[in-house]
Amino acid sequence: MRRLYVAGNWKMNLSLAEARALIEQIRARLPKDPPIDLAVFPPFVLLAPLADPLKAAGIGLGAQNCYFEQKGAFTGEVSPAMLVDAGCESVIIGHSERRHILGETGPMLKRKVAAALGAGLKVIYCVGEKLDQREAGQTEAVLSRQVHEVLGPEASPDRVTVAYEPVWAIGTGKTATPEQAQTAQAFIRQEIAKVYNSRAAQAMRIQYGGSVKASNARELMSQPDVDGALVGGASLKAEEFAGIIEGAIAAGK
Ligand code: PGA
Repeated sequence: MRRLYVAGNWKMNLSLAEARALIEQIRARLPKDPPIDLAVFPPFVLLAPLADPLKAAGIGLGAQNCYFEQKGAFTGEVSPAMLVDAGCESVIIGHSERRHILGETGPMLKRKVAAALGAGLKVIYCVGEKLDQREAGQTEAVLSRQVHEVLGPEASPDRVTVAYEPVWAIGTGKTATPEQAQTAQAFIRQEIAKVYNSRAAQAMRIQYGGSVKASNARELMSQPDVDGALVGGASLKAEEFAGIIEGAIAAGK
């Protein structure tokens, strides 16, 4: 049985004061001991100051990106070791905004995943097709390539979560239907089984991301291969994020 995992990707949003207030608001709405895993991914500069308040709220802490070296002359970069030092347990690698706006490539992401795992972090590795790729019938080819070019025997499967985030659904309000998410995620699981084995693939969690909100969370997470959500915009609103958490609990897995 895979425990559901709801993660909030705050992207480049919130001041420290706003972030503290949001954590308090979420905390006030959380059920006691929710039977799911929860984490938020603030911008780098907010990580260290939020480590304690998040711990007190029972919410995990992760970063949105990292570099693949542990230290050195890499101006502007942040290493996995630094994230551990700031109190992070996990990191998102390969978000579509990093692939498509910041130009990150498969080989780079493979090094990032290895470096993050090597430093003791858990990884959320994001995959997803663009709209033109879906319309051209290339969804499976894209997902397969993104799985195989980054995950391998050196990336320990028990510390990796995959997030299926169709690019056309991110920040657009156009959520994938539960059937579209299920179909893609069952396919991703098959590909993961080819990288590792079917036991590892069955154990690995695959989140859905892309315009998840309180109103669609339960139906998405009720799908057999949807093991949680990676939430952008709605994770910045306490009521919506708490509603997504309730949706996950109501999915009853
Ligand atoms: P969204 O973003 O929920 O705002 O669509 C999801 C993500 O980018 O992780």
